[in-house]
Order: sequence, then structure tokens, then C-alpha cells
Amino acid sequence: MTEPMQFVDLKSQYAALKSSIDERIQRVLNHGHYIMGPEVAELESELASRTGALHCIAVASGTEALLISLMAIGLRPGDEVITTPFTFAATVEMIVLLGGKPVFVDIESDTCNIDASLIEAKITGRTRAIMPVSLYGQVANMDEINAIADGHDNIAVIEDAAQSFGATYKGRKSCNLSTIGCTSFFPSKPLGCYGDGGAIFTNDHTLAQVCREIRVHGQSGRYQHIRVGVGGRMDTLQCAVVLGKLERFEWEIEQRHALGERYRRLLVDVPGVRLLVVRPDRDCVWAQFTLFATDRGSLQRVLTQWGIPTAVHYPMSLHQQPAYAGYAGADEFPHTVRSAAQVLSLPMSADLTESQQDTVVSALLAATGSAHRR
Ligand SMILES: Cc1ncc(COP(=O)(O)O)c(C=O)c1O
Repeated sequence: MTEPMQFVDLKSQYAALKSSIDERIQRVLNHGHYIMGPEVAELESELASRTGALHCIAVASGTEALLISLMAIGLRPGDEVITTPFTFAATVEMIVLLGGKPVFVDIESDTCNIDASLIEAKITGRTRAIMPVSLYGQVANMDEINAIADGHDNIAVIEDAAQSFGATYKGRKSCNLSTIGCTSFFPSKPLGCYGDGGAIFTNDHTLAQVCREIRVHGQSGRYQHIRVGVGGRMDTLQCAVVLGKLERFEWEIEQRHALGERYRRLLVDVPGVRLLVVRPDRDCVWAQFTLFATDRGSLQRVLTQWGIPTAVHYPMSLHQQPAYAGYAGADEFPHTVRSAAQVLSLPMSADLTESQQDTVVSALLAATGSAHRR
């Protein structure tokens, strides 16, 4: 019997990388340094060199990376952070947790990334950071956003690159495009571990040192608590898993590009389906392959009947979620609201085969009544 199709095929990935991942895990079991063992620094140095950033700090999750970064820039209660309402809750959650105020601006209708042209109008004397999210694996308009921040005093740009590790922007790497970049190693991310993990990237020596201290309860040395921190370390075992996965990561990124392009070729001009636009100056890593569907509900139903898993990232704008509704004021976010009603993510991972992809496409064509036209 053939295995049911996976939304993200982690089983095939493990089968391909078994010897390298097993060996690395066994090494940790042998040396027994489960907290801040040698694999932590090894991973940090490997990821720093892959992104070109001077510093990488491995942390407990993508959420923790955002929290530690906001603490490191000194976010205080009442400070404002400009961000998008079309993201996973963690982006906004960490601002609110520190007493900050998320200031939402709408997204671009074709990429779902924050619309940089709307940011300047939202800057006030309390703005402390701009937090773009490189959604679905496509980097946001970082140069425009950095330029806006540079035009003011003391505004940091923190890229939420949870979905975009491995993506490029004008030839530069996501995570190393602004004051700080934060990524996630959640298992289904382009570079995932086998649990929770994340990383912070920066070229600022002071910020890097502060992040390192915050990660270990604000310690500069053992029991020297010079600032308030958190328990934000990434487990040595999870670092070993990511190191094992790096063995074929470049190949995986190429596969993602190729599969993404193939989806786009096969799904062009399907009635009721609109493809996300990828800007010519960047490579998307397709953390998930997301498109817009006018009648999402019926498409999902047909795909489910064909045994094809789908997902919605995200079904509701954060400004409509009870926890964050108070931060929207009178603003409306028409592109976000429309995208939340239409986005649909299809199976995507480096191990998705072309024949599986053909099945997804056939199901989609059948669902839209356009199979006969092909
Ligand atoms: C945009 C975005 N930000 C932050 C996070 C949080 O990452 P983690 O799950 O590793 O805490 C995620 C994870 O889903 C995400 O997609």
C-alpha cells in the first residue's frame, strides 16, 4: 500500500539523512552535554557563515528568538512596533508580552508581505522597531524598510524570517538583511529540527552579546545575572539534528525552487486560482506553496477527497483575533482580510515527487472544473 501524501514529508527526509542525523545524535548521547554542548557553537558558526552574518545565537524556538531580540533592543512598555497582521501569532504575541504596542499595516495584495509604502505614516515618537515577516519563504521589501528606519533615530528592523531561512533577496541571505533576523527550526520549516529550535542573526557585536546573555537568564558568567533574561537555550540534541540536515540543505533549496516553479507553471491561468507573485530580485524557498483560491472551501473538499492534505496560513487576520483586536484602532486591512479568506497552501517539501505534484495539480484542476481544458 502506498503511503498517504504528507503536507511536509519529514519521513522521506529522515530516510535520506538517517546516517548523518543518527550519527550526530549518537555523538551527543555519548558526550552527554545536553545543554550548551559543543554542537550549539558548531551550528551557530555554520549558520553564521551560510548567511554571512557575523553572529548567530541558537535559541529555544522562533518565538524565543523574537522575544530575546525585542528584549535586546530594549523594548519597553508602551513602545510601538510596526508589523503585519497577516502572520503567525508569535510575531505579535512577543511584542504584547513585553508591554509593547503592535501597530499594524496592511500587506501587498500579490505577495502577502507587509506593504512598505504604508509604514512611514505609522511612525511616531514611540516607534522602536519595524518587524516585517518574510512570509511563505519570500523576503519582504527589506531595503525600503531599512531606509525608512534609517530616516529616524533608534528604530531597529527585525526580520521575522521564521519561514525564510535559505531565501535570498538581491543576492543576499534572509536573516542577514537588517538589525536582527530571527528564524525558526520548527520541524516543518525549510530548515527544521525534531522539536523546537530557532536562531537570531545580527552583525552588531553588542546586540549579539546581549542576546547571548538574555538566552541564559541574563548571565554574563555563571551566576552573574547582569540583566533580566529567559531560559532560551536550544537543546544540544536539536542542534545536532539541524547540523545533520545541513548536509543536503543546498539541494533541498534547489528542489524547493524547482517544485515551486513547476507548481506555478502547471497552475497558471486556472479559473478561480491566483498565484502569489515572486519579485524578480528574490528567491522564494516556499516554506509552503500558497496560492489564492476564490472558492477555497470547495477546493479543499475536493483535494481532501483525493487524499491531498492542505492548510491555510492564516484563516484570520490577527487584528480580528480576540487577543489582538484592540490594537487595530479604526484601521481596516483590506488586503489582509481578503487574503485570509482566500489563501490555500499545497503540499511542499524537498522530497515531494513530481508524480505526487501531478496528483495535486490534477485534483486542483478537477476541483476548479478546468481539467478538460488541459
Ligand atoms: C512567521 C512566524 N513567526 C514566528 C514563528 C514562531 O516560530 P516557533 O514555532 O519556532 O516558535 C512562526 C512559526 O510558525 C512563524 O511562521
